[in-house]
Amino acid sequence: NKPKVTVIGSANIDLVTQTNSFPKLGETLLGKDFQHFPGGKGANQAVAAARLGGDVTFIGCVGDDDYGKQIKENLQIENVNVEHIFTSEIVESGIANIVVAEKDNAIIVIPGANHELNPEYVHSLADVILASDVIVLQLEIPIETVKAAVSVAHKGNVPIVLNPAPALPLPEELLQQITYITPNETEIKVLTDEEDIDRSIEQLFAIGSKNVILTRGHKGVAYGSSENQSVRHYEACRVEVTDTTGAGDTFNAAFAVSIAEGKNISEAINYANAAAGLSITKLGAQTGMPTFKEVKEFNFKNVEEKK
Ligand code: RIB
Ligand code: NA
Repeated sequence: NKPKVTVIGSANIDLVTQTNSFPKLGETLLGKDFQHFPGGKGANQAVAAARLGGDVTFIGCVGDDDYGKQIKENLQIENVNVEHIFTSEIVESGIANIVVAEKDNAIIVIPGANHELNPEYVHSLADVILASDVIVLQLEIPIETVKAAVSVAHKGNVPIVLNPAPALPLPEELLQQITYITPNETEIKVLTDEEDIDRSIEQLFAIGSKNVILTRGHKGVAYGSSENQSVRHYEACRVEVTDTTGAGDTFNAAFAVSIAEGKNISEAINYANAAAGLSITKLGAQTGMPTFKEVKEFNFKNVEEKK
């Protein structure tokens, strides 16, 4: 029995430019390569969750254009249920302009049709949300739509993973309804007004957050539980970096699938760390996203090497 994962979020086509260094303002550079990839935090998380063994439904919005068709086709190939993707007749599919250089990336997102995903549409799919073992959200769709999905899931006791990316301040009521919030270091600073990590997690507890899973890239993960009022730190996996785009998405998907399978939070974090580590070894957000089997083998190798 596969765990039912519903992702409500964005889908983009990523326009990826590879270059040796980032251009300075006003500078023209000769780059190395240019490619299109399927992307968008929502679609990426749906694909990763499906590869990791989830029974995944994606709720999102694309334009009535070639990119929209490519986005849907790609999700279908990845065994994601696309039945509830809305097609906007007025607005074009979302895109992300991505520059990969110096083992880092810089991204500009044009939401397009992603911003047409409205609360009414999400309410009309309440039964899909309520039949899920977990729902997964990010912040590339309108905040009102995020609120609608969260309130449906919260009332129905469906666990909610919110990846608060890109960084936005969020209303307290929303934070209180989220089961697992997974900010990175930039995002937690926007959610709170603290510079210190442990103190920013405490501030989220004070607002009413339950579980704070702070992803810190190569520095690992900090997990704060409001129940024990404690913070635990986890190490990241050491891998060769090619492109970190999609690492956060892989982490969130792997974490959500594990939670939906009934694993405990520590197990879910370790699993998600391994999956995210593998994802950064390839160019493109989805290219390196591992299957369940690949994470298992990788974990095994890592444990062997540490002896
Ligand atoms: O998290 C990575 C994603 O963010 C990219 O695929 C891009 O589309 C942006 O949404
Ligand atoms: Na990648």
